[in-house]
Amino acid sequence: MFTPEGPTLRELAVQAFSSTMRGYDLLAPKFDLTPYRTPDRVLEAVADAVRPLGPFDRGLDVCCGTGAGVGVLRGLCRERVTGVDFSAGMLDAARSAHLGSAEGPAVDWVRADALALPFTRTFDLALSFGAFGHFLPAERPRLFGQVYEALRPGGRFVFPVGAPPAVGSRAYWSLLGFDAAMRVRNALWRPPFVMYYRTFPLAGVVDDLVRTGFTVRLLPLDVFGRRPDGSPRVRLVAASRE
Ligand SMILES: C[S@@+](CC[C@H](N)C(=O)[O-])C[C@H]1O[C@@H](n2cnc3c(N)ncnc32)[C@H](O)[C@@H]1O
Repeated sequence: MFTPEGPTLRELAVQAFSSTMRGYDLLAPKFDLTPYRTPDRVLEAVADAVRPLGPFDRGLDVCCGTGAGVGVLRGLCRERVTGVDFSAGMLDAARSAHLGSAEGPAVDWVRADALALPFTRTFDLALSFGAFGHFLPAERPRLFGQVYEALRPGGRFVFPVGAPPAVGSRAYWSLLGFDAAMRVRNALWRPPFVMYYRTFPLAGVVDDLVRTGFTVRLLPLDVFGRRPDGSPRVRLVAASRE
């Protein structure tokens, strides 16, 4: 999972005892060497599923980090692409990573909290990868409301959601253990580092999107296969602002 060039255990521990924002500022220079950066396979599957929903002019990557989703948007949008994140360190790393790449439209990097986005009816495509664990369930309506406001009428908000691991599987116990450890950490230590794996259930997410005003479609990302019951392992949530 981690390479020798990636963050050391000590660096990860220091990050874990910082705030979410400061933790990412510290991790930023080595973030792309960690498994937390969304893998290209996921980015490509999402790009392939979203392309037929276009064309798109202006795109927004919410919680862009080092710009994994910005790369997707540059392949899908014709005019301009924006990456927004609250970590100045991650935005610096994103700027360097995309510097010199002439592929696709120009990119703006904006430092802002996703819970207070500085955009109104600006984009026709918004996407997000790997960041929803940083929002408590009670913050979801506000987050979705901010994205809704940032989209033009007819705009789409898309993101992949994986099916939860089977109850009792190794992945099930490791995610449960991680979330339990974070709850203990956050009960004992300030500032909190908000990161939970099991707080983004598809049904609750769809309910919150619909309550925000989105119309929601779920598209299977078949390249990730199916579970034994035939349901997709990964779905694309495609929410439209009418
Ligand atoms: C795991 S990284 C994912 C980065 C990138 N989207 C990817 O898939 O590789 C999560 C990112 O969310 C950002 N983030 C977390 N909470 C945020 C918030 N409230 N507003 C803006 N950015 C936030 C962090 O700074 C970090 O860059």
